[in-house]
Amino acid sequence: MRSIGGRQLARSIGHWSEGQGTRPAYIRLADAIRTLILDGRLPLETRLPGERELAGALEVSRTTVTAAYDLLRTTGYAASRQGSGTRSALPANRSGTSAGSPWTPFGPDGSDILDLAHAAPEAPGHALTTAYQAALEQLPRQLPTCGYNLFGLPELRAVIAARFTARGLATEPEQILVTSGAQHAFSLVLSLITDPGDRVLIDHPTYPNAIDAIRRAMARPVPVPLLEDGWDLDAFEAAVRQTAPRLAYIVPDFHNPTGLLASDDERRAMASALGRNRTLTVVDETLAELPLEGQVPSPAATYLPRGLAITIGSASKTLWGGLRVGWIRAEESLIRRLAAVRASIDISSPVIDQLVVAELIRVLDDVLSERLPELRERREVLLATLAEAVPDWRVRRPAGGLVLWCDMGRPLSSSMVMAAERYGIRLAGGPRFGVEGAFERRLRLPYTLPSDVLRQAGTAIGQAFSAIGAAPPPATGQLQAVFA
Ligand SMILES: Cc1ncc(COP(=O)(O)O)c(C=O)c1O
Repeated sequence: MRSIGGRQLARSIGHWSEGQGTRPAYIRLADAIRTLILDGRLPLETRLPGERELAGALEVSRTTVTAAYDLLRTTGYAASRQGSGTRSALPANRSGTSAGSPWTPFGPDGSDILDLAHAAPEAPGHALTTAYQAALEQLPRQLPTCGYNLFGLPELRAVIAARFTARGLATEPEQILVTSGAQHAFSLVLSLITDPGDRVLIDHPTYPNAIDAIRRAMARPVPVPLLEDGWDLDAFEAAVRQTAPRLAYIVPDFHNPTGLLASDDERRAMASALGRNRTLTVVDETLAELPLEGQVPSPAATYLPRGLAITIGSASKTLWGGLRVGWIRAEESLIRRLAAVRASIDISSPVIDQLVVAELIRVLDDVLSERLPELRERREVLLATLAEAVPDWRVRRPAGGLVLWCDMGRPLSSSMVMAAERYGIRLAGGPRFGVEGAFERRLRLPYTLPSDVLRQAGTAIGQAFSAIGAAPPPATGQLQAVFA
């Protein structure tokens, strides 16, 4: 089990005793720890420091800590087992999150719904149809072959490898496996590398389908909390050392959902922790080519020791999710092993779509020179609309990617997801991005829709928030009394 020391917890809690009126110290302390759990900054199933140790670190009496832990236990935010101390937990009713599946295009009454649960832009229409025409012209050359390409079409592997090389990561076509998207790529890696029960280190929050894929592989996600403005390098290093994960999965480039971009120093520090422990690392670069400020970052694989980096990428966000084409870049020997696994799953990606993506990657810079300014404008529209509609929310402006990670200031995410459906909007609640219900104060909002639609959505979100703000949903009776 993971653990957190008294001093580290005291640091995370920060100024817990300020500005809290006359409420007793143990309630304020319990409230501060509960907020860390709800925000995902204190992962679930982490052993809390002993009472004496925390009392010393916070310079309070041991009775205060004992009473705070008791309160956390009775409200479901901590649990104790004989002999293993007190660990962080969540009340059972916090885990269920969304009113409807994000994959359903209709509201509860069957009406159309505005989908803000997915973060994927529309296709670049003209470039896409031109690429399909070019691909159709090339198709006759493919027809005499059997059409199965376990590794991917050679011309597509070549353009993907060339793009990595141009970004500073020398790559041969033999190091590329074409997949049906990045999600498929990650699932293939999990199938090959992990056994049931293995630990997989993840950023926390992270991309929800990655968490689901880890669980489907019967592996165990090990969440490492992200800070407001970057990676918590101490926590990252400690998690790698303490849990010896079989695999790490990181999204250092315009991270989904926080939008964070790992700095050179952060990349170096994470790589050195992973390198020391010889941890195979999946770097998910799905969003890397969407900088809205500055340049495309250097591939994180350039910082990792050779043989440890498995980079996955996709055409879904730069081009279109409907293409279902992605890739894995790794050492050639690993690519061959992954291809062998793939044979038992789906054998090959469709030839025509691979030809299309090869065409599109050749003109990707032109496509992005239109796409990025448009995304920049949409980001500003959504930020401005939210500033007006929900002025108390805290929302960072991400340097790239597709989403805003909004802090509503109160743990209302699940209620907001349900309320927004009544206003015709489907949202992705914060808990979708964490393990077991953390991030209840957060919502992820994509700026992938046209500006006028985003204005409309922002206004509806403001109305939904007022509606639930006016009548806060009943929490458990005790919680309301204690944490109001
Ligand atoms: C970080 C990340 N990885 C992977 C994916 C899935 O990509 P694909 O459509 O290529 O499967 C997404 C889609 O949102 C994503 O944000």
